[in-house]
Amino acid sequence: MYYLDPKVENLYRIFDQNERKDYLRLDLNENPGGLPQEFIEKVLSDVTPQFVAQYPETLHFTEVLAEYLHTDISHLCLVNGSAEGIRYIIQAFTSENGRIVGVVPSYFMFQIYSEMYGREFVKVPYNDDLSMDVQNIIDALTDDTQLLILLNPNNPMGNVYSDEEFERILKVAQEKQINILIDEAYHYFYPKTFIKYALEGEHVFVTRTFSKLFSMAGCRLGYVAGCPDGIKMVQKLCTPHNTNAFAMKFAEAVLTTPGMLDSLIQNFEIGRKYLINWLDSDGYQHKGEAGNFIFIKPKTDAQTIVDRMKAEKKILIKTYPNVGEFGNCLRVSIGEQKYMEQFTAALGELDK
Ligand SMILES: Cc1ncc(COP(=O)(O)O)c(C=O)c1O
Repeated sequence: MYYLDPKVENLYRIFDQNERKDYLRLDLNENPGGLPQEFIEKVLSDVTPQFVAQYPETLHFTEVLAEYLHTDISHLCLVNGSAEGIRYIIQAFTSENGRIVGVVPSYFMFQIYSEMYGREFVKVPYNDDLSMDVQNIIDALTDDTQLLILLNPNNPMGNVYSDEEFERILKVAQEKQINILIDEAYHYFYPKTFIKYALEGEHVFVTRTFSKLFSMAGCRLGYVAGCPDGIKMVQKLCTPHNTNAFAMKFAEAVLTTPGMLDSLIQNFEIGRKYLINWLDSDGYQHKGEAGNFIFIKPKTDAQTIVDRMKAEKKILIKTYPNVGEFGNCLRVSIGEQKYMEQFTAALGELDK
């Protein structure tokens, strides 16, 4: 009999990402403006036929990254976007029916992977005022929990953890021998990091991406940081040559070009300040600005705004249903001021 895994057959996935051309894309937390055109051209200028023809070599870029992070390459595994790293961690460190604890709402792939591999995903919800009670996370850590997933900061809520809160969680996780995955996709927009726990300790992994501040979502590149023994396990799961040569070339150029990261952060900060001022002056409740996105409570129906933004303004944004006291709300990626001006002009017109 032809076999099909029922977990795959029953899995619900959304493939909506192929029709986003020609829109101002503020729905997936990309950088709408991207890297400077001259920079892109310069990086591509020495691409040779051999560079394209050969399988990618990861050692050099891993060394560049390790130097940047003040660590050793044995602590790092490059992946084809951090979504791939997250998948490997779930595969390696949880079992069939294994218990995974994570906060909701959050990046949806944690739940998708859990379902894909037959894991139990236990949800820790946010409070009605959109705050997260750390004690609720701790209470969910039963003796049979295998993995705790935290985000620093969380997408879409933008909440973060203090050192003291993280230490409290870590202590319980260590007592119960639970691996921790910290998703730092939005690092740089919010500078505080827990990566030292992954680089200096054991059983803590941090995933990061080049898709967000580095503006390279189209290249697909991320990494997992952890202790060498854990990283070896993640590496075993990688498809051969999973990280592509162009991605590593661009990432190296961004990391080593003086002022490039600072200028990306600065452009973003100006856009964020503009957007928050506009929302405040128009009386909007908002939350979540620790990442490159913001959560907005609209004055009228969220889904109608999303649909009309798309149809009439060619702007893509996202809606989240029933989020505590915000109800049905909007999540909008933050980018350079000119894109935020386009968005606020549209919101001012459609949300009244
Ligand atoms: C919290 C979080 N983690 C991971 C990812 C995946 O990023 P990528 O696979 O592009 O590295 C995203 C993408 O939006 C995200 O929001």
